[in-house]
Amino acid sequence: MIIGSLSENTDLEKRIAITPEIIKKYISAGLEVYLSKNYAQHLGIDDKEFETQGAKICLTEDEVITSSDAIIQMNILSENNLKKLKKEQILIGVLNPYMNELKLAELTNKSINCFSLELLPRITRAQTMDVLSSQANLAGYKAVVDSFAFFQKAVPMMMTAAGTISAAKVLVVGAGVAGLQAIATAKRMGAIVFATDVRLASKEQVESLGGKFLVVEGAENLETEGGYAKETSDDFKQKQEELLKETLKKIDIIICTALIPGKKAPIIIKKDMINNMPSGSVIYDLAASQGGNSELTKVDEVVEINGVKIIGESNILNKLPVSASNLYAKNMFSFIINLFNKEKKSFEINLEDEIISKTKVK
Ligand code: NAI
Repeated sequence: MIIGSLSENTDLEKRIAITPEIIKKYISAGLEVYLSKNYAQHLGIDDKEFETQGAKICLTEDEVITSSDAIIQMNILSENNLKKLKKEQILIGVLNPYMNELKLAELTNKSINCFSLELLPRITRAQTMDVLSSQANLAGYKAVVDSFAFFQKAVPMMMTAAGTISAAKVLVVGAGVAGLQAIATAKRMGAIVFATDVRLASKEQVESLGGKFLVVEGAENLETEGGYAKETSDDFKQKQEELLKETLKKIDIIICTALIPGKKAPIIIKKDMINNMPSGSVIYDLAASQGGNSELTKVDEVVEINGVKIIGESNILNKLPVSASNLYAKNMFSFIINLFNKEKKSFEINLEDEIISKTKVK
């Protein structure tokens, strides 16, 4: 069996699905690896490095597509390349089924087996494949580092002969994987950290990292069985707004990470709250590509209102593509190995396996 991967559109995506170090693992599992030319040139990784590890570099993308039993990517292929896929071929990636519904329906109608890794169940067996966690963790870290670069003051408290600098106050909105890493990173750098979430289970996690959890008084626990957030009621939204309105007057940096799977991100930081923030504050909105948690976020722009900078980052992982690719490639390898039957030396789509049935695009 051959697995193949094509270069992504590097203007939009710098991460790769196959790293040199993962190739040996594929080969020792009995798989061959085909890659398109200059596969990771943009990361300073030469084709030779992949060849040394045992991959074949194809002269054309067509050769990769026609030879491969499974094509593994970061994002969905270009429309032109999607047309070249054949019946029974496998396509795996973070395919964004909510945005790419029509394209994926066309592929499944042609009996092409598509698997989208953001649909993985959050069960113990799938932890090594959990791309949402591996990528969100890095995103949370990088959002803090980047936001501090926009902030024109020092972050930790410093007592010097010339006077005292007070510690920056950071609010993390949404304490899931990205949010918890943001809390840990901001704490490590000396900030005073606050956080809020609709899932009450996150309170203990925030506190264990040294953050102060802001509880929306009288709110019920808005958590689904799968551990995700539910949409909030108008009553909750109003109470959350009242709580944050006061808090934001003293916050220097907000890291926004609140998401609801398959839906537009909730708008939590309203325009009038931003107007009340101290000049020089920074809002770093990781939810930008899903619409943003702040009312004034613009995707891939830095908006400045009354001295408050609002950064809407659409793909922060492009800012640490090597670390993100290393983790993604390992997640992907674990998924492939679960799909591959070593004895029969073929891919087996066993729909009784929850990991396979839940990620398969229907
Ligand atoms: P996510 O990326 O979908 O959302 C980020 C955070 O935003 C969540 O904590 C969510 O509750 C919060 N949020 C949504 N709407 C909000 C609002 N209006 N106000 C404030 N916060 C809001 O979530 P993520 O990071 O993917 O985590 C989801 C769950 O999965 C968590 O319970 C996490 O602990 C769990 N998990 C389980 C794993 C496992 O293997 N068992 C692995 C990773 C995560």
